Amino acid sequence: MKAPLAKRALTTDQPAPAEAAPADLERLRTQAREHLADGAVTAGYGDKRPQVLALLDAALATELVCVLRYRRHHFMARGAQAKAVADEFLVHSVQEQQHADWLAERIAQLGGAPDFAPDSLLRRSHAQYVEGTTLADMVRENLVAERIAIDSYRSFIAVLEGNDPTTRRLLETILATEEEHADELAALLEGLPVASGEKGQHTSVRTPG
Ligand SMILES: [Fe+2]
Ligand SMILES: [Fe+2]
Repeated sequence: MKAPLAKRALTTDQPAPAEAAPADLERLRTQAREHLADGAVTAGYGDKRPQVLALLDAALATELVCVLRYRRHHFMARGAQAKAVADEFLVHSVQEQQHADWLAERIAQLGGAPDFAPDSLLRRSHAQYVEGTTLADMVRENLVAERIAIDSYRSFIAVLEGNDPTTRRLLETILATEEEHADELAALLEGLPVASGEKGQHTSVRTPG
């Protein structure tokens, strides 16, 4: 029968816990007692915080615009195949809202202030707000927005390389969902009739005011 972990540790040649600690343990302990109001943001976070917060803000705005666009499309979907597509738009909208909430929570953890101001939302968002007219329009515009979000998240994750693993894991989780969304929309688009002259058309684009 194996000995309990604590007893086995005493019989090995491994260094005692204090010897295994970083050489600058005292500095680590002193820094931890400074700036307590910063909470999770410690001295070891590095100097990328303003950049990370700016990127998180853009991601939050993008998610909020996606929530609104999907909601609009959910209620405006018309046609023989509209029910299933409208249901999918609603599911995506709810998931984008969850992403927005996660991002806002992380911004606050990092000492920032999540910006929900509606007047600047489109300017800060990477994705556009396109209303569309036909069901195919709506699916296509959502697919475009997802593809924009996918590349934005990939770039953001690259910026975080070797830094802030918590934010990186969050972004990777969101990215995986955006890829699922894009895949589902591409499949939906294939099954929808496209009106002549509609290809490449971009209607009712809301540009930043
Ligand atoms: Fe999202
Ligand atoms: Fe999405």
